[in-house]
Amino acid sequence: MDLLNKVKAIVDKNAPLYSNLSNVSAVLNELGDLNWCGFYIAQGDTLFVGPFQGDVACVRIPFGKGVCGTSALKQETIIVPNVNEFPGHIACSSLSKSEIVTPIIKNGTTVGVIDIDSPVYSRFTDKDKEFLELVADSLKELF
Ligand code: SME
Repeated sequence: MDLLNKVKAIVDKNAPLYSNLSNVSAVLNELGDLNWCGFYIAQGDTLFVGPFQGDVACVRIPFGKGVCGTSALKQETIIVPNVNEFPGHIACSSLSKSEIVTPIIKNGTTVGVIDIDSPVYSRFTDKDKEFLELVADSLKELF
């Protein structure tokens, strides 16, 4: 089963958000070559760390800050081939070399982001962007 279908198969609309996002973070981890993958959830104009796989991460990120906050504010996927070259990148782990962040948008509002970090430069492609945008779309109704 491809990963998008796997995500769709494990989502349980009658379960709490944290249960669903925990299991989806485990599926995202199957993408491989990652050191962190998971969710930040919006409360007002701040993102708070949600379910994830990986090391301890920053708890809060204001909209407009870092890759996550920029994606949340601009409401677009951001691919960063080299995190050292992204102005304002928030380094939660020195392992991270590249990153992709996709916003989860419900009724025009950013309700969260999917954040994935890799220890490999230029790990993420337009194919990953396409995949994560479909994942985000399939998760928005849970928020
Ligand atoms: N690098 C992110 C912060 C979150 S961690 O990668 C888990 C950013 O710049 O927004």
